[in-house]
Amino acid sequence: MSTHSEIKRITTHILQEMKVRGEKISMLTAYDYSMAKIVDAAGTDIILVGDSASNVMAGHETTLPITLDQMIYHASSVIRGVNRALVVVDLPFGSYQGNSSEALRSAIRIMKESGAHAIKMEGGEEIGESIIRILSAGVPVMGHLGLTPQSIYKFGTYAVRAREEAEAQKLIEDAKFLEELGCFAIVLEKIPATLGKQVAEELKIPLIGIGAGPHVDGQVLVIHDMLGINKDFSPKFLRRYADLNTIITDAVGNYIQDVKSKDFPNDREGY
Ligand code: KIV
Repeated sequence: MSTHSEIKRITTHILQEMKVRGEKISMLTAYDYSMAKIVDAAGTDIILVGDSASNVMAGHETTLPITLDQMIYHASSVIRGVNRALVVVDLPFGSYQGNSSEALRSAIRIMKESGAHAIKMEGGEEIGESIIRILSAGVPVMGHLGLTPQSIYKFGTYAVRAREEAEAQKLIEDAKFLEELGCFAIVLEKIPATLGKQVAEELKIPLIGIGAGPHVDGQVLVIHDMLGINKDFSPKFLRRYADLNTIITDAVGNYIQDVKSKDFPNDREGY
């Protein structure tokens, strides 16, 4: 049997096989060509062009301001750097809620203009009609339940979701609904680990967690957070794998010092 690292191109079918054989799925965000190239070459299974670009690339407080055109710009840059990963792109806030024709148009624009492989949408039963239309056009859809940042002004807080029985039940029903519609995977964000486990056991499609515990079928993190570029954000679920903020600050400091002291450039660094 081949393992994921020997496979040329990750497809939704391969992700399904990974769930069946218990191989965990790795997913990270990327928003530009250079980072996507590194993340892909390192072997990440899914690259998410997340609307978190609104926060980490553009400096907005929420994901709401990013536009469809901006998502397409980020996604087409990422696609040029990727050979192996499945590239999933967030439909941004306002491009699909409440109007299935507009949702279909938005999804088709992303697929046509960026070359991405799938789209992701936040919500359950309330966006069912849009998901059906997008799926019927042949576009793979990843769901997103739990803490859905596009609804932050409805929640009023980034606290853990579905701690209460009623919200947990609604999440389970929504997850089953998304599976029945034909979504190929679902992101579960910031929910109790026991609920993550239950949903992963009850569904056949892969569940990718961010703050959803260890029992789901894969994990996703925002690349700027896990590389320690952005030090202001430290939720409990975040593991930092590098301290690039310090590395970059030191490198820039050394450069400034070399320029000021006339050490850079030296004789070998000119023409
Ligand atoms: O936009 C994003 O980065 C996301 C992940 C947090 C799952 O949706």
